[in-house]
Amino acid sequence: MKFASTASTLCAALLGAATNVVAQQQQQQHEDQSDWVPGAYIVELGSSESPDGFYAELARDHGIKAEHRMHLASSALFHGASFQVHNASSHDHADLFAAMKAKDQVKAVWPVRTVRLDVGTPAPHDIPLPASSGVHQRRGVANETNDTFSPHLMTQIDKLHAKGITGKGFRIAIVDSGIDWHHPALGGCFGPGCLVETGWDLVGDDYNPPGLPKPDADPYDNCVGHGTHVAGTIAAQLQNNEYGFTGAAPGAKLAAYRAWGCATKATTEVMISAFIKAFEDGNDIISCSAGDLNGWSDDAWGLVSSRIAAAGVPVVIAAGNDGGSGLFQASTPAGARGVTGVGAVQNAVFPVFVTSGSYVLGGTNETSSYGFLAGTPAFPKEMKLSLWAAMGNDTAPTGEDACSPLPDDTPSLSDKLVLLRIPDSRKTRCYPIDQGENIAAKGGKYMAYVVQSNVTFEEQYIYVDGIKGVISVAPFQGARWIDALNKGMDVTVTVPGPDAAATTLMELKDGITGGYTGDFTSWGPNYDLLPRPQLTAPGGKILSTYPLPLGGYRIMTGTSMACPLVAGVLALIGEARGSLKDTNLINRLISATAEPKIWFDGVKTYPDTLAPVAQQGAGMIQAYDAAFAKTILSVASLSLNDTEHFAGQHTFSVENAGDREATYVLGHMKTPTMYTLMPGRDSPIKAAYPNPTVDAWAELHFDADSVTVPAGSSADVTVTFTPPAGAKLNATLLPVYSGYISVNSTRDDHDEHLVIPYLGVVGSMRSVPILLASSSYLADFGSPAAANRTYTLAPPDPARLPYLNDPKKDPIHIPDAGKTPNLLLQPVLGTRAMHVDVVALDDADDKANKDGSRNQKKTPTGRPCLGPLAGYPKAYVSKNEQRAFFQGLLANGTVLPTGAYRMMASALRVFGDAAREEDWDVIETVPFIVKYEGAANATACVKDASNL
Ligand SMILES: *[C@@H]1O[C@H](CO)[C@@H](O)[C@H](O)[C@H]1NC(C)=O
Ligand SMILES: *[C@@H]1O[C@H](CO)[C@@H](O)[C@H](O)[C@H]1NC(C)=O
Ligand SMILES: *[C@@H]1O[C@H](CO)[C@@H](O)[C@H](O)[C@H]1NC(C)=O
Ligand SMILES: *[C@@H]1O[C@H](CO)[C@@H](O)[C@H](O)[C@H]1NC(C)=O
Ligand SMILES: *[C@@H]1O[C@H](CO)[C@@H](O)[C@H](O)[C@H]1NC(C)=O
Repeated sequence: MKFASTASTLCAALLGAATNVVAQQQQQQHEDQSDWVPGAYIVELGSSESPDGFYAELARDHGIKAEHRMHLASSALFHGASFQVHNASSHDHADLFAAMKAKDQVKAVWPVRTVRLDVGTPAPHDIPLPASSGVHQRRGVANETNDTFSPHLMTQIDKLHAKGITGKGFRIAIVDSGIDWHHPALGGCFGPGCLVETGWDLVGDDYNPPGLPKPDADPYDNCVGHGTHVAGTIAAQLQNNEYGFTGAAPGAKLAAYRAWGCATKATTEVMISAFIKAFEDGNDIISCSAGDLNGWSDDAWGLVSSRIAAAGVPVVIAAGNDGGSGLFQASTPAGARGVTGVGAVQNAVFPVFVTSGSYVLGGTNETSSYGFLAGTPAFPKEMKLSLWAAMGNDTAPTGEDACSPLPDDTPSLSDKLVLLRIPDSRKTRCYPIDQGENIAAKGGKYMAYVVQSNVTFEEQYIYVDGIKGVISVAPFQGARWIDALNKGMDVTVTVPGPDAAATTLMELKDGITGGYTGDFTSWGPNYDLLPRPQLTAPGGKILSTYPLPLGGYRIMTGTSMACPLVAGVLALIGEARGSLKDTNLINRLISATAEPKIWFDGVKTYPDTLAPVAQQGAGMIQAYDAAFAKTILSVASLSLNDTEHFAGQHTFSVENAGDREATYVLGHMKTPTMYTLMPGRDSPIKAAYPNPTVDAWAELHFDADSVTVPAGSSADVTVTFTPPAGAKLNATLLPVYSGYISVNSTRDDHDEHLVIPYLGVVGSMRSVPILLASSSYLADFGSPAAANRTYTLAPPDPARLPYLNDPKKDPIHIPDAGKTPNLLLQPVLGTRAMHVDVVALDDADDKANKDGSRNQKKTPTGRPCLGPLAGYPKAYVSKNEQRAFFQGLLANGTVLPTGAYRMMASALRVFGDAAREEDWDVIETVPFIVKYEGAANATACVKDASNL
């Protein structure tokens, strides 16, 4: 038995050393997910209270032993601490929570959650291979005033750089995995006078919660890289930069707050601590490319972020990479009030690190270079080969080249480089291996693939006897070669050997996804129905710096890459305008001047409609227009709420900050109305990306079609909304509608196109059930388990922390979903409160419960139960699937004896009132019977534990 250690060891682990147990079993995860640190809390206290006094009171009044974890204190923002409760065995989580909240000196209490950093998985060609020669190919960037870096061209950063605006005088705090400040393009030093001027390592390399961090003074990162990439996007220097690009604000300074160690896992207490320190250190902007997947604004991290923004320091946060989940997948603190949450647009160019080879066209002496990706097998040594096209003179994107045996008159291919296309295998049933075999049959050994499109530039693998080398080239290169062959020229290609490094940056135009909002970017709105994200910036396929030990440069994708670009833009705006202190004004400026993109659903574009506000917010940031806006709108966006709380009339002001009178024409630009739930189902089921759309839109009525505003004055505009309606629209599917108010003017030959995004929901958030018996049930893997099944479990083991993670993603502590009673929970929307309680049933072996009298506690709706299952209740739960595993333990550490049980789940509806029974959805499982293997001494163990 894997967990058959002695009872005393297990008890010790529960009471003190749980940290080590988990740390040892923790593996590095790359998924973005979050959960609780069991027994750990963040408390906000009145400003004159000390954490020690609070702990003493907990001990005196409740017998609770609280161990201090971290001070979370700032003069102006927050006064509190985090702590660990060790002997909560006499208290339920819920009871403890209520007891703490009821104390006079306590303003609020939150559970400590874990926050993972989404570091992505590098493709081989995302990182340059170390060059033996040390020679890298620069991009065609001239200097800082002539900026040709694609993300900068997309966002007008180039126009600000051309005016000499580089973010001078502003310092940006990066809360991330640290920075490799040794990097020459990041200044090469740390401390006063350096680019990375200050910072702090809050955690240390080995940090892995729930263990405590070991801070030190050096935020250096050589194991993760994420923060170094972010740093380059903000402030990479042109000098000593092997690829000739700069950050958005190369004139700004950086401060590095390292909040994740090498295991890329942290907690909300560490994030709050880092944000407070970044604020207290006097930084001008905080950039953090991380979040916690819950769609509410009022959790602890969100609250602290909102207060920092309100205190005059813009907080810029990545929206998240959960686009596949569709609507209502906002994260925090990106969705918190006053915080700038940033979604991602695909870069207009697709950068890729390639190896350089050369070729000569017959009849000329001219050597040209070309870039390729080495495949498998790689060329064994440098070869000079003449090109032979298996694709005839054809340059269409796909073909069936060498898919059938080659004709008899085919020359011997042994000294040729065979040029061919990647087949559409699904359609033609021809695979690269077939092509390899047909080529090998003619003596061919070397193949050069022309990839199908600029965005599918990938290496190829051919496992065929006789094939000795494979490369891939871009479509434009294949076309160039075919063109030369068609003209009757010989093409002699030199392919370098395996030691040649892929250090040349090739930039291909992305005509497919480039410039559209990325399908990976997380959708709002949040559960307060605030339009989220706020806006977008290029985040897909971004070249930036990376720690020197990990390659020095890397191309990465995610809202993590979009967030720092916006932080850099804010420094530029700060320099142009003189101040960023009015964060509300700055947010209004960047929203109003953003450029909404047309809707691309991942496959197709819809030129007549813009992408929904829930995906792109105000649209892609336009740095120059924001910095030099002549018009200021009084709102950044409008939330129309749901039908029950409909806010259909809004008045906003248009301020003319220019020096000439201007006339503003008001208009409406629509976006698709989308269903949150799947149409045509018997019961509510959440839809995923791209959510189904319906042809119905809001109508807008303005009190005037245009307003003329003298220089230096402002005018009010009132807009009245009529939500989408009509026979086509099914309000029970929770349609989310949105669009843009356009405010256009022309003066001094300068066009202004301002937008105000709006968003609302038809129907009632409160009417949507969160849990349904049809989709949340006692499960045998994915299907309902039979009633009264007997489960034989390992004896409850208090050392094994209750299962708290997403079973799909986290292999740690996952019980067998076929052998352990488990309640599969598939919430239709997120919930502020998810309870799972255990109910004891009468059964022959349990005389004590003949009358159900053991069920002395109450579920949130007052039903009798034994108490919460270990790991519950949970606060701020996303709509993602989860499983509540019955492992014989209650939340208070009680070991449940052999017997019959049910689990009962209660979830509070969005906009629900916890005091109203009808605002909770309650489902209960069929009964199940639990027995224990070998009946170890578990009960005695817990009894001992509760005495401590
Ligand atoms: C930068 O490049 C532009 C255009 O090539 C040129 O006009 C300008 O003088 C250059 N500036 C510096 C500082 O080299
Ligand atoms: C910037 O440089 C590019 C090529 O390096 C050139 O085509 C362009 O004209 C330059 N722009 C300016 C404003 O000098
Ligand atoms: C090729 O190069 C040789 C020697 O470098 C030179 O004599 C000859 O004229 C060149 N031919 C062409 C077509 O450029
Ligand atoms: C390609 O080859 C076909 C058949 O050999 C010929 O008819 C056609 O004109 C060629 N096209 C070009 C562009 O050379
Ligand atoms: C692919 O990229 C190349 C190089 O940037 C460009 O010339 C070509 O037009 C692009 N092709 C498409 C279809 O966008």
